[in-house]
Order: sequence, then C-alpha cells, then structure tokens
Amino acid sequence: MSDIHNIVVLTGAGVSAESGLGTFRGPGGLWEGQRIEDICTPEALARNRDLVLDFYDQRRAALSTVKPNAAHEALARLDRECRGELLIVTQNVDDLHERAGTKRLLHMHGELMSALCEQCGARAGYGGSMRDGTECGACGTKDVLRPDIVFFGEMPYQMELIDQVLSRADLFLSIGTSGAVYPAAGFVRSARHHGAHTLELNLDPSEGSYFFHESRMGPASALVPAWVDEVLAAQ
Ligand code: OAD
Repeated sequence: MSDIHNIVVLTGAGVSAESGLGTFRGPGGLWEGQRIEDICTPEALARNRDLVLDFYDQRRAALSTVKPNAAHEALARLDRECRGELLIVTQNVDDLHERAGTKRLLHMHGELMSALCEQCGARAGYGGSMRDGTECGACGTKDVLRPDIVFFGEMPYQMELIDQVLSRADLFLSIGTSGAVYPAAGFVRSARHHGAHTLELNLDPSEGSYFFHESRMGPASALVPAWVDEVLAAQ
C-alpha cells in the first residue's frame, strides 16, 4: 500500500443509498416499473418532455431531504489528506460528494443541480423546476433548458481525462455500482490492463466482480471509512 501514488475511485448509486437516495436496479430501484427508454434517452425527451422534466424535478427536490453519509465523508477525508494523485469519478448525479467536501471529483453522468441548454450547449448551476420556461442565462433562449444528465446514447463527460488517469493509476477502487452500465463498467479492466491493483466495495458482487483483484462485500458506510483509514495509515 505504501507504493500507491495514483488512486482512481469510481462511485455509483450504492454510495448514496444509505443517505436515502434510491439505487437504479433491483427491487425498489428507480428503474423498477419504468422503462429507461421512456425517461433517460434523448428520444424520450423529444417525445415526452414534461414526463422527463418531472422525473428529474422530483429527483432534484429529493436532494434537499438527504445528507452525505459516512462513505461520502470518508472519501472527502481521503481527498483532504491523501498526498498522492487522486480522482473520484462518480456516476451519481446527486451532490452528496461535494456537500461532504470532496474537491477532486468528476461527474461523468452529469449533475441534477445543473441545467444544459439545448440551444447553445451552456451548462450552469440550476436548482428549480425545469418546467417553468426559464431562459438560458448564456443565450437568453426560453424553454431550451434540459437536465444536465448524460442520457443513454450520449457520451459521458470527460472521458479523455478519465482514460488518462486510469492509464497511470496504481489503485482503482469501485464502490456501490452494479457494473451494468458502460463505459464505467469497463474502467476496472482498463486500470488493470495498465497495472493497477483493483478493489471493489459493494453490497453484493457486481456484474464485473470477476475482473477485480479483490472484493469486499458490505455497506459502503462501513467499508469505505475502514478502507480510507488503511490507505491514509500506509502513506
Ligand atoms: P445500480 O442501481 O445499477 O447499482 C447499485 C449498486 O450498489 C448495486 O450493485 C448494489 O448492490 C449496491 N449497493 C446498494 N446499497 C449499497 C450500500 N449501502 N453499500 C454499498 N453498495 C450498495 O447503480 P449504478 O451502478 O450507479 O445512469 O448505475 C449506473 C448508472 O445506471 C447510473 O449512473 C444511472 C443508471 O441508469 C444514468 O442515469 C445516466
């Protein structure tokens, strides 16, 4: 562990589950009883804009009722105290990592608290409903703001940077993700191919569990603080 200098952490919905935000897959998940194609695609937005905006308005509103848990807090501590290179790549669109204080963070699937202008492409912080016809702060056009969420069929943010950091990582950690959605599900193989040690922390084995050198099963609120203690003690 003492020769670890470059750490890449991938987080998924399981990190926020104990804060009270639903995961996507499995019983009670956000996609249960919903077809992803009806909500989370550019075609769904074009076909049924109000349904899609309502779905994300509700999820944005839910953010004000939750707070970071021990896993977010532990990763923020890692960010503050880890002397080497670190990047936390989250698939989550909530803002719990930043509310816990994490700075070295990248939202590859977008952010609930941001709007994307379909007219000019500007991305800007946004807290209200997107059904009220607010105009874009950059180009002034009305009724063109959409959730700043990477829909299925769209390219996740900052893939070039992520590929670069994966190629020089010596430790890759995946926390609370089912490994069902690419390209994030492929990060473990990429990091491993470039020589990183790979570790998974999850409630149960993910779809790509087989690709990790090591897996620890349990709730993120217990596993993540223990792992952060180990890393910081070794540096
Ligand atoms: P999933 O809902 O697919 O998977 C969540 C994972 O977290 C599962 O493997 C659970 O076992 C695990 N889990 C649940 N509670 C946990 C806990 N307390 N501690 C640790 N692990 C726990 O969510 P993601 O993998 O994040 O994309 O989903 C990936 C993407 O699919 C999302 O970013 C979203 C979704 O469609 C978009 O919306 C663009």
